Amino acid sequence: TAGMRIAIDGPAAAGKSTIAKLVAKKLGYTYIDTGAMYRAITYKVLQSAIDLRNEEEITRLIAQTEIELQPDEQVQKVLLDGIEVTDAIRSHEVTTNVSAIAALTSVRDLLVAKQQNLAAESSVVMDGRDIGTAVLPEAELKIFMTASVEERAERRLLEEQKRGMKSDYETLKREISERDRADSERKISPLKKAEDAITIDTTGKTIEEVTNSIVEYAEKRL
Ligand code: C5P
Repeated sequence: TAGMRIAIDGPAAAGKSTIAKLVAKKLGYTYIDTGAMYRAITYKVLQSAIDLRNEEEITRLIAQTEIELQPDEQVQKVLLDGIEVTDAIRSHEVTTNVSAIAALTSVRDLLVAKQQNLAAESSVVMDGRDIGTAVLPEAELKIFMTASVEERAERRLLEEQKRGMKSDYETLKREISERDRADSERKISPLKKAEDAITIDTTGKTIEEVTNSIVEYAEKRL
């Protein structure tokens, strides 16, 4: 049977990557975490000590950057110029600076083209902020995943504590809200529900429930 493209967008920490990974596994599709790509670029810029507002320098830097997403059992491995940065791109420093980098035209042009090439190769489940609106506007299935900011902060807290990070609920809640504001207010392809996307509010729902409902939508459209 023919495959399809599934776009999953929504605010920070709504459970997109957890669910997208499981949906991809169930359908035998490739999972692509586009946020990881923006994080990898941000990590490289921070390492390079280039000023975050210096778009010209950043454009030059990223022109020579190689980002590779490798599927893995638990997490999707992220390679930046051949070096694994899977954990490094989840740092507090990257998280608080990624929205500024993701707002730059040259960064988006480069990564959107890369994402479109990946989707042309196989059936994909792609998660991010602008997949249904800008990267794959012709996707066969579009989901807009939300959850209350309180639940998102709680989930993120548990996740970060598991990774051994010293995190605090109120700080996480503030950071998540701030990132959503920045991502929604930027000029180029802001975070926004595509008109033809199905909204799923995951507040109070289990991972399995949400995964199954998306797989059902997908199977109906195959
Ligand atoms: O999905 P994740 O929270 O890891 O994304 C990190 C950041 O990358 C977002 O806050 C946003 O600024 C940016 N992003 C984006 N477009 C995407 C995916 C992520 O601008 N498609």
